[in-house]
Amino acid sequence: MFITFEGGEGSGKTTQVRLLGERLTQLGYQVMVTREPGGTPLGAKLRALLLDVESQVEPRAELLLYAADRAQHVATLIRPALADGKIVISDRYADSALAYQGYGRGLDLTALRQIMVFATSGLQPDLTFFLDLDPQQGLARRAQAGASNRFEAQTLEFHRRVREGYLALIAAEPERWVRIDADQPLAVVQGTIFAVVEERLQLLQR
Ligand code: TYD
Repeated sequence: MFITFEGGEGSGKTTQVRLLGERLTQLGYQVMVTREPGGTPLGAKLRALLLDVESQVEPRAELLLYAADRAQHVATLIRPALADGKIVISDRYADSALAYQGYGRGLDLTALRQIMVFATSGLQPDLTFFLDLDPQQGLARRAQAGASNRFEAQTLEFHRRVREGYLALIAAEPERWVRIDADQPLAVVQGTIFAVVEERLQLLQR
């Protein structure tokens, strides 16, 4: 089973990814928790280039660097782990490119989808959580945490387009997505995620 987490800045994704990984491990599943960009050694270098506030990156170059990170990630980590029977949980995946480079930057969605299929050799998540938070609130949470990267420096308008993009992706493929209101206590969000995953795992075992 391949599970991905998506969301805007400050939505609490990373914490939820970790908690779900811990929970499934406790239940006795073999789990691999990973992230994009930066899940592999090559990806870690690409991540530094992509997130550095000093980097000047054209939208098409940006997209292709994320695609390179993803291609390496799928081929060297995700596919082998799935082949070993592990549950793979990734903090961001191809939907991030559709939302950020497609809806956020305005790159052509049809071309982008083709590049995603090529980069991932067609690997799609089985289940994707969208932690939905008002972009203004998310950016404020991030600013409080003192974090700053090239995306957090984008305008509020950009982040609104990204959120609208996610909502459009969900509407187009509702069976794969679970949207969760991220403006709820951490434990409530966590409980919803566990319930969905446990139900899916039971269905698989039947
Ligand atoms: P990260 O520090 O991992 O942020 P977050 O905790 O919000 O996931 O930074 C990843 C940034 O890269 C994030 O702002 C979204 C962006 N991104 C894209 O624009 N396209 C992509 O394909 C991916 C994977 C990430």
